[in-house]
Amino acid sequence: MNDLLELMKERRSIRKYLEKQIPREALERIVEAGLYAPNAGGGQRSRIVAVRNPVLSEKLGRLNLAHFNRATLAGSFVSAEQPSVIDDPSMKSGFYGAPTVCAIFGPTDFLYSIPDAFCCAENMVLEAHALGIASCIIARGEETFDNEFGKALLRQWQIPDTMIARCFVLLGYCSGKYPAVKPRKAGRSLIVEETREHD
Ligand SMILES: Cc1cc2nc3c(=O)[nH]c(=O)nc-3n(C[C@H](O)[C@H](O)[C@H](O)COP(=O)(O)O)c2cc1C
Repeated sequence: MNDLLELMKERRSIRKYLEKQIPREALERIVEAGLYAPNAGGGQRSRIVAVRNPVLSEKLGRLNLAHFNRATLAGSFVSAEQPSVIDDPSMKSGFYGAPTVCAIFGPTDFLYSIPDAFCCAENMVLEAHALGIASCIIARGEETFDNEFGKALLRQWQIPDTMIARCFVLLGYCSGKYPAVKPRKAGRSLIVEETREHD
């Protein structure tokens, strides 16, 4: 697929994955896409750690939900085709069994740490889709590692104390039918043409 807009429209968040792992070369391209994301002040502060160990991912996925209070989201609905942890409270992992999980870190104390991380994530999911790989952006990075197990992993991964996880990108192959393009709500944009009105 060559048209970037078409690719953006077709990309969907996938929450049902096959066990099949994605190729290492594809993952390297997806991580590279993340590293090339726009970033505040050109500081290139974000870091990406890709985990290809399903046992570790399952453990982290459970920690991702450990302090998630679904009650605050009562009545919210995400997707019937690809139910999220909000739609199905019986789900125990926030990572939906994805075979590869990428954690994106940013500085703890930097104004644009979060937007930087999510720009990485967006570049990654688009590159993934271009490669035929399914993905989903996941929140709650901060709390996922806020425990002894998480802290030990960060030391192992040589993430400095000055950094914190901001989000995740799940990667794998879609199990079942890939969801269709989702229509957009109307009235969400405005284009202001050049006029003399404000001169
Ligand atoms: C900032 C952000 C946080 C998100 N966090 C989660 C999450 O924690 N769990 C999840 O299943 N999906 C998460 N998503 C995916 C959204 O639910 C998804 O993008 C949205 O429902 C629209 O569906 P689509 O991506 O298929 O178009 C997140 C997306 C964004 C942009």
